[in-house]
Amino acid sequence: MATRSCRGSCGTRSCSGGCFMLIASILVLSVLSPARTQDFGYDGAKGPSHWGEQYNSCTGKHQSPININSLDVKKVNLPPLVFQGFDVAPKETNLTNNGHTVFVTMDSEVTPTVSGGPLNGVYEYSQLHFHWGDNDTFGSEDMIDNHRFPMELHIVFFKQDYQNARTALNYPDGLTVLAFFFEIAPDDNPMYGEFIELLGNVTESHLSARFDVPPSLKELIADDLLHYYTYDGSLTTPPCSEVVTWIDFKEPILLSHAQVQAFRALKDEDGHPLTHNFRPVQPLGDRVVLFNTDEMIKQVDLDADVPPEVGEGVDTNKLDTPAKSDAGSLPAKDPSSRKHPRNGATVPVASRWSLLTAAMVLLVPLMFYSTIAKC
Ligand SMILES: *[C@@H]1O[C@H](CO)[C@@H](O)[C@H](O)[C@H]1NC(C)=O
Ligand SMILES: *[C@@H]1O[C@H](CO)[C@@H](O)[C@H](O)[C@H]1NC(C)=O
Ligand SMILES: *[C@@H]1O[C@H](CO)[C@@H](O)[C@H](O)[C@H]1NC(C)=O
Ligand SMILES: [Zn+2]
Repeated sequence: MATRSCRGSCGTRSCSGGCFMLIASILVLSVLSPARTQDFGYDGAKGPSHWGEQYNSCTGKHQSPININSLDVKKVNLPPLVFQGFDVAPKETNLTNNGHTVFVTMDSEVTPTVSGGPLNGVYEYSQLHFHWGDNDTFGSEDMIDNHRFPMELHIVFFKQDYQNARTALNYPDGLTVLAFFFEIAPDDNPMYGEFIELLGNVTESHLSARFDVPPSLKELIADDLLHYYTYDGSLTTPPCSEVVTWIDFKEPILLSHAQVQAFRALKDEDGHPLTHNFRPVQPLGDRVVLFNTDEMIKQVDLDADVPPEVGEGVDTNKLDTPAKSDAGSLPAKDPSSRKHPRNGATVPVASRWSLLTAAMVLLVPLMFYSTIAKC
């Protein structure tokens, strides 16, 4: 494998970013799966209910995946997520079947990173991979309101402070995974065109294929990067380390049925069809799932117990403005596109209540920030 030669050249301190990234990718992969391929599977004696026998962490209290109850999340306005290098096409991109999933490694001039949102620090791209199921009613790992999507994309990043993904596994804030759900659409998604073609070249376990036209990360993900669920959890494969800040985007990626079906044709290392590779959901325990939104104001109105007659008089459109500028650099959206303006001219606004509400508009985001400041 390329691991050794790359490590060697890096020992000379002349390591290029690309080389470093490749090492990082290989390290996380060797941790996340290939070296231990014999050790776990998704059925029978190797199945998820037996993982804990070899890997203590798999029986931990903060495991992933989970079912997210959308009525039981805490709505927050986190600082914006900052994505770098997501729109850069890599120099070289490989697709590999490791017997558990198909994963993508990249060698890029600009290493993609993510920071902001719930994250404290900068996280560097390691690899991306997928989880799917036997048919379109199964496949995602996290569930929303007990709904499983047909597939889920995991883009794995390690915290730059920890140098590589292997070291990062030793720290509770070591990794973050950007997760995207898939939904079935009538038409093929052209951004996944070459990707799906190449699946046919890596049907057997341990085969790799190289992209002719490497896609940028942005081309593989959804557009709305503002609305997401986030919680602290674990790797969803052994060793199940509880070191992952999960960021599950609400907007799904669309693929056709045939495109998702192509994943089910891959084979595991025993030559059996790899028809499903998702772990069952784990208990939420004492964890709270946050939902990031730009619609804090509605929530404030509800929580504030403003007397109905006065609440009616409050022009929520106007209150949008201070709340947004206070919440930081959320993308500017025309509030009228989201809310239906009342006939404000006919309703006098009680100035005392306006002041009180304005004060809460300023205070509540602060309270939320300090709650989350644990990271
Ligand atoms: C892609 O695979 C080729 C051939 O195995 C290898 O030489 C190269 O380093 C790989 N590149 C990446 C980014 O994984
Ligand atoms: C999908 O697969 C599951 C599990 O194998 C099975 O129980 C279910 O009946 C299937 N659903 C459809 C619509 O085929
Ligand atoms: C994939 O398989 C096709 C058909 O066998 C072949 O023509 C093509 O060169 C392969 N591509 C790669 C990148 O291996
Ligand atoms: Zn995964």
